[in-house]
Amino acid sequence: TLPPLIDPFARAITYLRISVTDRCDFRCVYCMSEDMKFLPKKELLTLEELDRMCSAFINLGVEKLRITGGEPLVRRGIMTFFDAMSRHLDSGALKELTLTTNGSQLARFADDLYAAGVRRVNISLDTLDDQKFADITRWGRLPQVIKGIDAAQKAGMRVKINAVALKGFNDVELFDMVEWCNERDMDITFIEVMPMGDIGNEDRLDQYWPLTDLRAQLGERYQITDLAERSGGPARYIRLEETGQKVGLITPMTHNFCESCNRVRLTCTGEIYTCLGQEGWQDLRPALRNNPDHEEPLYEAIRAAIGLKPKGHDFDYSRQEVGGKMSRHMSHTGG
Ligand code: GTP
Ligand code: 5AD
Ligand code: SF4
Repeated sequence: TLPPLIDPFARAITYLRISVTDRCDFRCVYCMSEDMKFLPKKELLTLEELDRMCSAFINLGVEKLRITGGEPLVRRGIMTFFDAMSRHLDSGALKELTLTTNGSQLARFADDLYAAGVRRVNISLDTLDDQKFADITRWGRLPQVIKGIDAAQKAGMRVKINAVALKGFNDVELFDMVEWCNERDMDITFIEVMPMGDIGNEDRLDQYWPLTDLRAQLGERYQITDLAERSGGPARYIRLEETGQKVGLITPMTHNFCESCNRVRLTCTGEIYTCLGQEGWQDLRPALRNNPDHEEPLYEAIRAAIGLKPKGHDFDYSRQEVGGKMSRHMSHTGG
């Protein structure tokens, strides 16, 4: 067997997030500009190439694969890809196959995803108010997402809601959202908004709601216990003692979790990003395309890229002008 992927800071890379499309049927205001330009379809890795890429990473020790976008379920033929990946679950090489989705297409795909081996799905949902949902996603409709959530649960998948914490937007819904998830037996994780991409007139610093504040607000109603467990993702968890409910906190801004980073990201064109909060990337496509029938050069290119993984991100709201901000959009690497 091949030696595992270890980066220069002795972190083992066992988690791959792969964006299968840059397109999305929503235009969330913190993620995309209204007139977002998408890649021509011919630029995308084919489904076969996505399979080869992911399989290479799995052969190199990746155990958790998360499919992202854009919105992954708008990629044509995506179930073929999920079905192909399920062979790695069957072999035991892959421990988890999952996705992060806006939920809009889940009603249609939930049963097929379950059949492919997906047992958990993360759904991005920032508000429970129809009008606010329409405002923040620009193109989305909340009832359609709720239908998707219902379908996912009915199919047997565990659902986690990801909510970006936005001051002046969903701060007033904190308890409603937490209680709604508890009633439906869903997990919820809050995320600090990161300064990614030029999104037009939206001022992210105004909306930035540190999760230290959110936590303090939860503390006014609940007794909170910090949990040691991690999901293999970036969230830390707290438990609300009155209900036993677990709440996840993803705090890239107030407590970065880079020291335990275990993941890299692949874009839909075959670029590897070894850090969400750094500009650096390498192109894996030449190693893939120039060697249609042997994988060694791809393994080498992956190792070389991971050899350049930086220590941590560089986000900083206090110096937006001088580089605390990323030029690319979150949808480029799928979060
Ligand atoms: P679980 O497997 O449920 O723990 O999922 P996850 O948190 O790994 O994946 P998810 O797609 O739900 O991630 C939620 C969000 O956390 C992402 O969309 C990003 O906004 C943020 N995030 C994930 N990984 C990183 C990271 O390495 N660095 C930073 N700064 N943010 C991250
Ligand atoms: N900061 C934090 N999270 C973001 N997401 C998109 N853009 C940002 C941002 N600037 C989240 C989405 C989704 C995940 C894929 O990334 O809400 O949950
Ligand atoms: Fe689409 Fe997700 Fe970005 Fe919203 S956050 S526009 S749902 S990719």
